[in-house]
Amino acid sequence: MTLPPRVRIVEVGPRDGLQNEAAFLSVDAKVAFIEMLARAGLISIEAGSFVSPKAAPQMASTGEVLEKLRGRADLRVSVLVANPRGLEAAFKAGARELAVFAAASETFSRHNINCSIAESLARFKVMVEEAARRGIWARGYVSCALGCPYEGAVAPAQVAAVARELRAIGCAEVSLGDTIGVGTPLEARRLAEMVAREIGLERVAVHFHDTYGQALANIFACLEAGVTVVDSSVAGLGGCPYAPGASGNVATEDVIYMLNGLGVETGVELGALLQAGAYISRLLNRGPASAVARAFAAKRRSP
Ligand code: HMG
Ligand code: MG
Repeated sequence: MTLPPRVRIVEVGPRDGLQNEAAFLSVDAKVAFIEMLARAGLISIEAGSFVSPKAAPQMASTGEVLEKLRGRADLRVSVLVANPRGLEAAFKAGARELAVFAAASETFSRHNINCSIAESLARFKVMVEEAARRGIWARGYVSCALGCPYEGAVAPAQVAAVARELRAIGCAEVSLGDTIGVGTPLEARRLAEMVAREIGLERVAVHFHDTYGQALANIFACLEAGVTVVDSSVAGLGGCPYAPGASGNVATEDVIYMLNGLGVETGVELGALLQAGAYISRLLNRGPASAVARAFAAKRRSP
């Protein structure tokens, strides 16, 4: 068995995690959270999204968050953009990286961004090209990569086709989103391999929600296939407002613990990461959805 020697973690907690939260968090609290993640060694951090405030009210302050992080040239801070208006706002706030988000399911696409898959790709093409002219790096998501909350099973060939399109319009990387966390390891691995044949293995990222408890196993299976970019969310924050019942992303603490055990480099320091998870969990007034965070907390409490 060979695993990649190094994996890049894309921390999506400040976006995928907080987009689902009703509790109001101040700009300063979000910036402090992101600074803590950076102190733990995370470089790639999704800081928010420029979408309708009706879709994700908590993301309405993304512009201000980004402004405050302008000086952090050492970080790869990215933001989600849904439409040209979001793109303009991202430019204005100084975004250097962005993500567009398509889906492999027509019904989900309609619910999430109110257009068909083809319409979304046509819109994203113009946006990604404009971003490229300004030297801004872009990734693309394919939601419902292993199942859809409305349509059920999703054909891997459809996911591969959307991934190919995202690459063709200029996305440097495509993240395969198991939006509702239904996938299991063998199908996750086969999908990653199929998409890798379309766009190149180094451009494939995986994004697992942990609704059915499969996320770590899925990541391991994809690492075996050679995937080197993994999305995760500290404290297991997250969910998608348009994916009923979907739980948070796989917890970054759990991913780092597993990768440390496997001898895979990430540059992330678990102790500092646990502190970031504890900070945001305290602000949200709940315990972390990370088995590793809970285990370390129990160990600290025991005599
Ligand atoms: P629409 O209704 O077709 O667009 O929505 P619209 O242009 O008619 O605008 C609707 C309203 O939004 C208007 O406000 C606009 O002003 C406003 P109203 O007149 O009703 O008061 N609006 C905006 N406001 C701020 N910034 C903007 C913006 N655009 C419009 N950029 C739209 C289309 C795309 C806007 C909407 O459907 C939307 O915002 N969708 C985003 C949904 C979302 O954020 N989903 C979660 C992120 S995706 C995800 O989590 C999955 C992922 O993690 C991967 C995975 O897990 O699979 C990435
Ligand atoms: Mg997600």
